[in-house]
Order: sequence, then structure tokens, then C-alpha cells
Amino acid sequence: FNVPEPLNEPVLNYGPRSVERAALKAALDEARAQQLDIPMYIGGQEVRTGKTLEVRPPHDHKHLLATYHEGDASHVQQAIDAALAAKADWENLPWEQRAAIFLKAADLVAGPYRAKINAATMLGQSKNAFQAEIDAACELIDFLRFNVKYMTEIYAQQPQSGKGVWNRLEQRPLEGFVFAITPFNFTAIACNLCAAPAMMGNVVVWKPAPTQIYAANVVMQVLNEAGLPPGVINMITVDGPVAGDVIFSHPDFAGLHFTGSTHVFQNLWKIIGNNIHLYRSYPRIVGETGGKDFVLVHASADADVVNTALVRGAFEYQGQKCSAASRAYIPKSLWPAVKEKMQRDIASFKVGPVEDFGNFVNAVIDERSFDKLAKYIDEAKANPDVEIIAGGIYDKSVGYFVEPTVIEVKDPYYRTMCEELFGPVLTVYVYEDDQFEAIMDIIDKTSPYALTGSILSQDRYAIALATQRLRNAAGNFYINDKPTGAVVGQQPFGGARGSGTNDKAGSLLNLLRWVSPRTIKETF
Ligand code: SER
Repeated sequence: FNVPEPLNEPVLNYGPRSVERAALKAALDEARAQQLDIPMYIGGQEVRTGKTLEVRPPHDHKHLLATYHEGDASHVQQAIDAALAAKADWENLPWEQRAAIFLKAADLVAGPYRAKINAATMLGQSKNAFQAEIDAACELIDFLRFNVKYMTEIYAQQPQSGKGVWNRLEQRPLEGFVFAITPFNFTAIACNLCAAPAMMGNVVVWKPAPTQIYAANVVMQVLNEAGLPPGVINMITVDGPVAGDVIFSHPDFAGLHFTGSTHVFQNLWKIIGNNIHLYRSYPRIVGETGGKDFVLVHASADADVVNTALVRGAFEYQGQKCSAASRAYIPKSLWPAVKEKMQRDIASFKVGPVEDFGNFVNAVIDERSFDKLAKYIDEAKANPDVEIIAGGIYDKSVGYFVEPTVIEVKDPYYRTMCEELFGPVLTVYVYEDDQFEAIMDIIDKTSPYALTGSILSQDRYAIALATQRLRNAAGNFYINDKPTGAVVGQQPFGGARGSGTNDKAGSLLNLLRWVSPRTIKETF
């Protein structure tokens, strides 16, 4: 099982006069100049229905970037048929041959496609160059390379045998097709939700978020160029309920790989449950859903470390990470220093389009998200018990811009402490220093989610206590760091409770969900 030992892809820095920046700028110019017409990809064919919808950069919604084609139930059926037609050849291909395709795809993104996929992520999802680089280039590459390594580890695991008996474990792909539903916020996640099951020999029907379709199109181009056979991954752009009706009533539906909202995931689970008698096997249901991620600060923490963890954790990519810091608990003694540092940093952040590399904050994904955030901010402004200590400004005239906003509350159960906003809004509750233990109980029961969380402290007893008491409050727990930015191969990612099935993305555990083992015993 000799596969290249993966190393995390180095992050390029796009400095002002770097060749990387020049290449990225050229890719941005090229993308903006051509008005792409994005097809669906079914059975290796580009499918256009003529019923087009528009893609506009969230930071520049007057510019028409591309169109894409909306399909209907017949296209969903075609995608399933294409997947099932590809299945036998694909699953019988030796694993090294499948692995080679994904290793090549990783190399294509690391090299010739890097600027293109980053530019597509920047324009389509309003992500700045650095955030695009760590997502659409590095994390995407890491998912592919590390998963190939985990795949070999899975195939290598074999049971004991003895004299006269040879036991084997055969890791069969699921009997049917996998449905991948992917989010707008990470191009890497979108690719991984399809690639992970496909790597293990499955065929996939993929429904990307409409707000990520622009970069999803580049993912399909990369996979095609890497040699993925027709029908193994089929990308459809069909309204969710229309696609769901066809997919979830099909006897060969074998698995759901989902990242998105808790509400949608729970509904899909119910539909699958109601239809369970229709399926050949119990479908695998793997989902990463919402978060209401906390930062708990102890009085011993360093104010600079706290400030950095909060502003980066809450505001990178406009807080649109399921891991984003969205509620902070800060002791009274430390609050004045932290508040001053946060206000100073936030005032210095430049807000604007991604094409200007100096802008740290870009637009939120769409008008619906903008309006929702504006409503929460207005409500906070109108509440006498709530103080907006930074930001609070929004403007959608050119793009969906919401300034990084910090809300200080007196009630630890105030709405924005409990609900997932998915935007650049951080809510702070200031607690009495001697209430450190009590605050952990509040953290644990404030939200139904349990994705990420941080403890910031220089006191080892406080760290130990928080690590133990908040055991079930986060699937990814960070000590003296922001709660975002899990690196594939280093911090397997996922949460339990309302945050998902916790089948850690980019880990052996996730890949194991896409196989159904057969035990073979042979006697001599
Ligand atoms: N994996 C990302 C992070 O850790 C979120 O999806 O920030």
C-alpha cells in the first residue's frame, strides 16, 4: 500500500508583487470578462435545459457573472441512471486506479487550476484571496490526498487468521448511489462530500448549493481532467424538494452526504425514515449541520490572544463558517482591555469587494442572509439591555455588506447568544470572574449545537476543568486558539448534538461510512 505520504499543502501568501498574486488577478479578470454558461454534468455529458438562472458576485450584485441551467425531475432521474450505469465498472476498478484519479485532481488544483478555482471561489462566494487559498486550494487538496491515505489504511485492516483458516474483510461500496448535498461556504467541502464516497467505489449524484455553483463547475472540470469516468459523479442543479422527491423514493438510494442547515438535515432524515421500506439497504446518513460556537475566556488569559481568537474566529469569511466564533464569555476583569483591542482592530478592517486584496471583509452570500442579519442587528439596536460595541452597519446597494458587529448582552440567553446567525456578528456576555464554573453550565445548555468551542486561559486548572466540563459541548475543542480553521490530517472536523453525525470530515471514520464490509472465511 505504497501511496505518496501526504503533507498539508503549503498556503501561498499572495504578497503585493508575488507571481501568485499576478496569476490570481489574471484569473479574476478572465472570469469577470467571460459570462460563463454553466451546464449540469450527467453521465459525462454537459446538459443544458434552457431554463437559466443567474450567478452574481455577492459583493457586486449588478454584475452578471454566469448563468446556469435549472433541471427538473427528469434530470434527477437521468443522473441516477447515469450513476447506476457507471457503478459496476467503477467499483470493480482496482483501488489504486481510483486513487490515482483523486491524486491527480489534487495535483491539478495545486498547480494549473489553483488560480482558477481560487478566483471562482472569490467571485462566486465573495471570499478574499487568503480565505479562498486555504479553502479551495489547500483544504481541497488535503482532503483528496489524506483521504487516499486513509483509504489504503481501511483496505489494509484485516482480521486474524489461523491454521487452516483464512479470514478476510472485503470493503464493498454501498449497494446503490450516494446523494451529496453541499454548502456554499467551502469549495473544499463540496468537493470532499462527493470525492470521499466516490473514492471508496461509490457513484454519486451531487446537488451543490446554487450560491456555490460557480466554483462547483471548476471542481467538475478538475475531476473530468483528472480522468474521472463519466457517471461516477453527476452534478445537477435542481430545486431541492424536486430532487428529493426522486432521490428519496428510489430503491437504490444508499447514502446521504450532507453539509448544510440543521433544519433541512432533520427534514431529510424524516423523509428517509418514512421511506425506509423502499430501500434495498438502510441508507448511510452523514451530516454536518449548524453551530453556535463558543469562546470561553478565563481571567488568566492574555488579552491579545483573546482579541486575535475572537476577531479571526468570528469575522474571517464574514463569519460564514459553521465553526465561527459567535458567542463569547469574557470575565469582567479582562473585558475593558479586550473590548478596546477589538474595537481598534475592527475599525481598521477594510470592507469591500474581493478584487481589492486589502479588503479583509467581503459580502455575505446573498440577500436573504443580509436581510436576516440586518434584522438581528436592528433588534439589538432597539433593545436597551443590549449594546452594539462595534459595527452594526450594513448596506446592500452594491453588494451584501455587513460590517463586523459585536453585541454585548446582559442576558446570557439573549437571542443572538442562542441562535445561529451565520454572519459577521459576535455576541459577548461579560461574567463575574468568580463565576467561571457557573458559566460553563450556561455554555453547555445555551444552544442545541455542539460543533466547535475554545477555552482561552493561562491557568492549567481552568483549562483542565473546561476540557472536562464542556466535553459534550463541542466536537472540535480548541485550547488557546480560535475555534475555526481545522486542518485536514491534523484536527478531524465535526460535531455531535444538533451539529451533525460527527463522522469527522477528512478522516478514516468518514470514509468508513461509505463502505459495507463483507467478512469472508475460507477453510483449507
Ligand atoms: N472546517 C472548517 C473550519 O474548521 C469549517 O467547516 O473552520
